[in-house]
This record gives sequence, C-alpha cells and structure tokens, in this order.
Amino acid sequence: MDIFKQIQLKLKFFLGSLFYLSYAPKALIYTKRRDKLERQFIARTTDDGVSLPGKLIRAEATATGANFYFELAELEVYFLAEDLVRVDWKQGIAPIPYGIARQEWPEVEVKLTETETNCAVFTERLKVIVEVDGKLKFSDRSGQIIREELPPQYKIEGWVHQAQLRPEERIYGLGERASSLNLRAAKDERQQSKTYRMWNYDAAGMYAPGSDPMYLCIPVYLGMHSLGSYLIFYENSFDANFTFGETATADFTGGALRYYFTVGSPKQLLERYTELTGHAPLPPRWALGYHQSKWGYRTEAAVREEAKAFQAHNLPLSAIHLDIDCQVGYRAFTIDPERFPNLASFTQELAEIGVQFIAILNPGIKYSRHSNLFLEGQILDGFCKLPNGKLLVAPVWPGWCVFPDFTNPKVRSWWSRQYAYLLDVGVAGFWHDMNEPAAFITDGDRSLPKVTQHYMEGRGGDHREAHNIYGLLQAEAGYESLRQYRPEKRPFIVSRAGWAGLQRYAWTWTGDVECTWPALRQTISTVIGLGLSGIPYSGPDIGGFQGNPSAELYLRWFQMATFFTFYRTHSSNNVEHRTPWTYGEPYLSIIRSFLELRYSLLPYFYTLSWEATQKGYPPVRPLFWAASDDMRLWDVEDAFMLGDALLICPIVQEKERSRQVMLPPGNWYSFWDDTVFAGGKQVTLSAPLENIPVLVKAGSILPMEENQQLTLHIYPSGEGESLTQLYSDAGDGYGSSRLDTLHLVRFADNLELTREEQGDYPFPYTSVKLHLHGLKIQQAWVDDVEVTSQGQELDYIECDRFFKIRLQID
Ligand code: GLC
Repeated sequence: MDIFKQIQLKLKFFLGSLFYLSYAPKALIYTKRRDKLERQFIARTTDDGVSLPGKLIRAEATATGANFYFELAELEVYFLAEDLVRVDWKQGIAPIPYGIARQEWPEVEVKLTETETNCAVFTERLKVIVEVDGKLKFSDRSGQIIREELPPQYKIEGWVHQAQLRPEERIYGLGERASSLNLRAAKDERQQSKTYRMWNYDAAGMYAPGSDPMYLCIPVYLGMHSLGSYLIFYENSFDANFTFGETATADFTGGALRYYFTVGSPKQLLERYTELTGHAPLPPRWALGYHQSKWGYRTEAAVREEAKAFQAHNLPLSAIHLDIDCQVGYRAFTIDPERFPNLASFTQELAEIGVQFIAILNPGIKYSRHSNLFLEGQILDGFCKLPNGKLLVAPVWPGWCVFPDFTNPKVRSWWSRQYAYLLDVGVAGFWHDMNEPAAFITDGDRSLPKVTQHYMEGRGGDHREAHNIYGLLQAEAGYESLRQYRPEKRPFIVSRAGWAGLQRYAWTWTGDVECTWPALRQTISTVIGLGLSGIPYSGPDIGGFQGNPSAELYLRWFQMATFFTFYRTHSSNNVEHRTPWTYGEPYLSIIRSFLELRYSLLPYFYTLSWEATQKGYPPVRPLFWAASDDMRLWDVEDAFMLGDALLICPIVQEKERSRQVMLPPGNWYSFWDDTVFAGGKQVTLSAPLENIPVLVKAGSILPMEENQQLTLHIYPSGEGESLTQLYSDAGDGYGSSRLDTLHLVRFADNLELTREEQGDYPFPYTSVKLHLHGLKIQQAWVDDVEVTSQGQELDYIECDRFFKIRLQID
C-alpha cells in the first residue's frame, strides 16, 4: 500500500473514532442513569433458593396428552403432532406466543399409562416418561431414550432446567453465535463447559470469534448423539444462560418453563420447528443476487456513481444499501431531500438497470418536539416508559432517543404506516439496524434498563421479557407494512436482531465482524447455526465490517459468500471503501467470475428458497445434513452444503492453495474440472486463488441459467435414480408458479431423464441445454426423436422444453 493511501486510511480511522467519541458524554450520562434506575427499581432478594416439583400425586389424561399434578408444581404434556410435544411446567408468567406461527394442530391419538414408578404419555412416534420426582425421559419410535431431563428447579423468578448429555452428544443452534458449530466443543481441555447468553446484543462496531452474546439469540437447539437427534425450543424470551457440559442447563431469569420437543433426523427437526414458528416466505428473486453496501453513501450522486461503476466493470448488481448517512440527522424514515433531491425518479433510474434501493432504519426516535415521529408516538402513548411513568430516553445515532414499544399492537400498526411514503417513492426494501435494541453506553449492558416497562399485548411486563422479542416485533410491523402498502410485491427486510420466528418477516446478517481470517472461518458456523435455528437467509459483511482486509482475504470471503443466501459487501465508515474492484487485477476478474456464477446459479438458489417455504430447510446446511449418523461429519465447521447438491469448501487461511475435507458418503464431482472423489473419507482438494473447492454430489442435476437458456448439469452416479425439482415464477409478486420435477434414472449405459410439470406459469426458458459431466453422450433421443448421429461423442445436447430424454453413454 502506498504511503498516501496509508495516511488517508489513518485519517479516516481517526475521523471515524472522533465520530464515535462524540457520543461519549451522552453514553456516560445514560450509563449512570441506567445503573441508578436498576438499583432503584429492581427488587433485590437474598433468597436464592430453588424448589423442586416434589412428588407426583396424580396424572390425568387429556384429549391431547396428560396433566400431572406434583406436590409443588403442575405439568402439562400436550402433543401437537405425533412427534412434537409441548411441555409446560406451569409456574411463572406464561409467554405471549410471539414466536409461534401455528396454533391449530389436528388432534393426535395419545395414550397414558401408569406404573408404580412412573407414567408415560405417548403416540406412535414419541413417548414422554414422567417419573415420580419430576424427571422426564423422551424416547423415539424404537424405544431409544433420546433425552433425559432432571426435575426442573423453580427459582423465585425463572427456572433452571437440566438434561443429561451423552458423552458424544453435539449441540447446535441457539440462533446467531460466534462460536464453534458444535456449541459444546470446549476451546481447551481445561474448560468443562461453555455458556451462552440469551440476550440480543450489539457488538458496537466490532466483534471477534468467541464473542457472546450476539445480536440474534434464539432458545432453540438440536442435540445429536449416537442414539438419535432431537430439537428443543424454549418458548421463553427472558434473559437466560445456556450451559453445555456434562449436562445441558437452561437458566432463565423469569417466565414459565414451556418448551417444545421433537425427535427425528435434522431434516425432520427443521420441518417441525418451522411448522411451529413459521416458514420464511419466498423472497423477491433479485434479493438472491449481489448487494453492495457501505457506511458512507451520502448523496444521490455517490450512489449513482457506484451503480455505474458496477456497469462499467461489467459486474452484476441487484441492490445498493443506504446506511444512516442518507438520513437527516440519522433519523428513522428520513432520506435527506437535499442530498437525494429526486428520490422517486432516482429509485426508478436504478430499478431500470436492475438495482434496488434499500434504506436503513433504526427504532430509536429522536427525543425532540421537532420530530414528528416523536409527537405522533407521544399522542399514541407508544414509547417505552420507566416504572415511574417517565419516558425512557437513551442515546443512539440521532442523539437522545425514545423507543417505540412494539409489544403494543397499536404501536406496531403506527410504525407500519411510516413505511408507506418511502415505498411510494420506490424504496424496495428496508434494513432494520440497532434493534436489539441498542443504546450507547460506557460500560455494562448496551440496551435499555431492565426495568423499562412494556405493554405486552395489554398484560404488562418489563424489558427482561421484551428485550429479545423487540427486533422480531419491529420486523413484523415492517413486513405487514410492505404487504399492505405494496401488495403486488414481496417484502424485503433485513434485520440485525430477532427471535424465534424472525424468518417469517426478515433476513439477517452477521453484524460488525472484524476483518480477519478467523472471522471469515467463523462466518461458516454462524450461518449454519442460524439455519439450524430456523433462519434460512443470512450472510456476513463480505471482507468483514471493521478493518481493511487484504486483497486475498476479501477475495476468499467473496468466494465463500457466493454460496450463502445473503450476498453483500458492507463495511464501516472508518475503513477503505470496499468494492469488487478495490484490489484491481487479478482479484476483480476472479470476483466477476464468482458473481457470474452466482447469477447463473439463481434457478438453484430460488428452488432452495421455495423449498424453505415448504419445509423450512435452510439452503446452507452442515455436512452432517447429508448423513447424520456419520459422526465424522458432526464437527466439520469449515465447509458447508448449499442444498443437497453442492458442497462448498471455503479457504479460511492466508496463502492456502489446497485443503482437506471429510466427504459425506457417495461420489463427488469437482465443479471445476469433473474429477470424481469417493466420499466417506477425507480428501485433499486444490484451491488456486481463482477458485475454492466446490463439489457436486453424484446423482444431482444442477440447474443453471444464462441468457434465457436453462442448462441442466447432470452429474451421474453409478446406478440408481434421483429426483430434482426446479421452481420458477415471475420472480416477484404473488402470481402463478411452476414446478418442474426431473427424474433421472441410470441403468447400464443409459441415462433417462423425464420431466413432469405442475403449475400455470409458462416455462421461462427459450431453450434447454443438457450438459453431461464425467461421461460422453454417444446417442441422444429427445421425446423419442434421435438428435445425434452415430459416432459422435458429445458433452451436451441442446433442445426445447422436453418431456423425456434418453442418453446412451459410454
Ligand atoms: C451498526 C451496523 C452496521 C452499520 C452501522 C451504522 O454498527 O451493524 O452495519 O453500518 O451501525 O449504521
């Protein structure tokens, strides 16, 4: 880097630091105030005793399960489905079902049996054994005990809930975590257990791997051991600690102990969990393209220049994200009319070149009589207050702010109305930031005081309960707004914070991660963990948020992110402006080839999105998704699957030009040169700067597109058959759709591909190319008409929409 650039960067960093420092006096005042309030209003108790349920007195069958009456507690076991049960230890404030999408479940047949020592309530697929002291055991269809729970302990407020973990047991999930993929993995031998907090938390500009908690905590985890796998979701939004050691301990600071439990393969677990908490709706197709962002686009001219530069460099671009600099005084729902004088025509101009305009907004409302939003919210009595009835005021970007109480439906509907005029001028989507909610502090908790009061749908509650659902409810208000005011298009919202069920409304990104190689590697576990927690759409700030990545780090990060659902470069205001061309050649050309690859993979991505709407499967999956009984795959955290066909091995170290990976069973083709690797073992793959190892599972058909042509890449397996689905529609809106189901059968020297179609949307391609990998086509018949002449050896054939293709291969 030349000296001039170094000085420039130092200056930028210095100015950025001054910017942060300018908030210090307010942060200090607020921190003192928050501490005083918490001292004043939080009742201190010296009683840290716990009580156990006591002895079981009687059990009573109900239509859907059973009630159990203990000396000191009451337990309800309620089957929602044969393999999904809700367990309710009654004491404590019952949750408001913010996380739950499905309330009505068809009745299932449940039986209750009683013996001297225990009772059992069960369906064909799941049995809950309730012991006289309140221990619970869960067994699957084959009678294997999958989980054993100790009697829960009720504290003055909240519960401690413990389960025995098997020695080999792995734990995944808990929403967004900057941890190992297996949350139980100890960092070193001395560490006996690991604790994770449930408290949505702003990393405030930078975090490193290992940081906890993160912005988006969800009390859901998957357990996997040699006897089977299960998922448990605690419907409790209170601050909590989850510790995994010899036992799994969930320690909640309040609320009832209500949880949902299901058994099955990881696929089945995600299906059930997303049936319960909701599926992510289909995003607009453009959202699966590339997004460019930075903290620092201040004017229309700057944004135009950026979009033009993408065109000039011949790089595809789907969206530009506008950070707080586009606003007036960093206020929500504003875009500075002086710096964006023709917003409606400008968003139109961008849309014409395929670029969507995304605007940021933060929940904190400027505390000022000169702020209309403040006045409106005051009239509604819609802001969070303290126990003494005064407004809670805390510093965020606009200065002193008040906070809408999204637990009040009136406030959600008022907030929903605010998006309307930005939608009218063509803003395509919204970026919800700082919604943990974050407040600036000098030390301690970076949020609102725990004593802050919330409406909680009328029943009342405080911030200990409302904190973790704040971002979720803001996302709900935003999503409903976009549905209502722009019904012909699909909503696009990306939210930093959230809770169980966020997938119903928004995508997320992994926040202010540092620019380091370990951070790149961390992203893989974080994104997989989010997916296993029901959030299918996430991705990192490519290159990291805070710092200046080397050209190689940015490139490797870009290559990896090409296979994540949310594909966005973003960076802080105090670092070098970062774009695909920042580092010149050869990086630019390599990045271009990855961008092009991403866009040609859109039929595949889009079909995975459709699959997520049906089944809740995250497009980005752990390797064990393919073979959950293969223990060797349980700890692979530096590679991932994109759908069932692609296995991606990012390069996570500087100067690395090859790497190893443990392959799931089956054969795997190199995407780059068709080399075939036998699975079920460790292999070494080469990774020149130009690419990262990408493998395709034998038996797959990978749909790709270019210029209205659909290419079906066929990767044959030895024998057998496979099914591939291809979903298409207009890419936005709620019109007709189609599903093409491809059935591939291999027998001896023949491959037969049949296509069945469903749905009214017309076939969107003008032609189809069938590309056979690893083998040569000797003869081909399309709908029984031969299209090759004998003696030819081809890699591919081209045709129109077909119903049956037969290939004779060598
Ligand atoms: C937060 C966000 C970051 C954004 C910045 C300024 O740090 O995480 O993405 O650029 O605020 O709005």
